[in-house]
Amino acid sequence: MSAAGAHVGANNESPDIAVAAEAAAAKAGYFSVSNLRAYYGDSYIVQNVSFDVNEGEIVALLGRNGAGKTSTLRAIARAESPELRTGEIWLKGQSMHDKAAYEAALAGIQLVPEDRRIIPGLTVEENLDLACIAGNLGWEYERIYSLFPRLKERRKQEGTTLSGGEQQMLAIGRALARELKLLLLDEPYEGLAPVVRHDIENALIEVRNAGITTIIVEQNAVAALKLADRAIILDTGEVAFTGTAKDVLDNEQLRHDYLAI
Ligand SMILES: Nc1ncnc2c1ncn2[C@@H]1O[C@H](COP(=O)(O)OP(=O)(O)OP(=O)(O)O)[C@@H](O)[C@H]1O
Ligand SMILES: [Mg+2]
Repeated sequence: MSAAGAHVGANNESPDIAVAAEAAAAKAGYFSVSNLRAYYGDSYIVQNVSFDVNEGEIVALLGRNGAGKTSTLRAIARAESPELRTGEIWLKGQSMHDKAAYEAALAGIQLVPEDRRIIPGLTVEENLDLACIAGNLGWEYERIYSLFPRLKERRKQEGTTLSGGEQQMLAIGRALARELKLLLLDEPYEGLAPVVRHDIENALIEVRNAGITTIIVEQNAVAALKLADRAIILDTGEVAFTGTAKDVLDNEQLRHDYLAI
């Protein structure tokens, strides 16, 4: 019997309410990490980090330099370093803590790292082709190109010769070309002029409107909070705050203590 069926039986609620409750529970249980501890050698960097992400939302993961934001994203993407020693990671009911990086990527966790990792010697389109090689395809190229028309114009150009903003577009496009259930963005606005940042912001809003779930790490906390539904603040590898983006923007003490804004 489904959970909804059990629910109806237990509470005599209408099936509609039970189905809606089940859908809400599935959204709420979309992605979670609990008690993550990750190490570089003997240094304990991510300390007991727990949080949830609902389906379709954008969560800003914020904190000062060295707070552990990149390390947390890398632990979620199951990178080898930092080494995840304890804790659990669940995506849509599937465990990730026991997976390797390539398995997490096949399951739909796509990390866009700070340095963007555009592959030298390959054109824009060949960079997309390479992302698709493992199978589990996501958006068609035409859909990616309509999100980022500049990539279409430059699709035969070597990826590493693109501007910083265009390289960021390609890095996000590459994540979209694969099956994408959780997009992890590390400092996507770094080094970008405001006008280019706005193009990326608009694209990320479209990505959210397409139902994709995102965790964004950004030094530009104000820009990230403008986009985000909720925020998690890390401090020395621990979760110091979780709440809505508005809670953070409205709380001067919090902004002063952890974000210097
Ligand atoms: N490869 C590594 N080996 C050892 N220590 C590391 C390594 N990478 C990061 N650290 C340390 O882990 C801590 C957290 O770093 P991390 O890069 O996760 O922080 P961050 O919040 O992303 O910072 P930033 O805002 O500067 O990008 C820092 O003290 C950093 O020095
Ligand atoms: Mg970082």
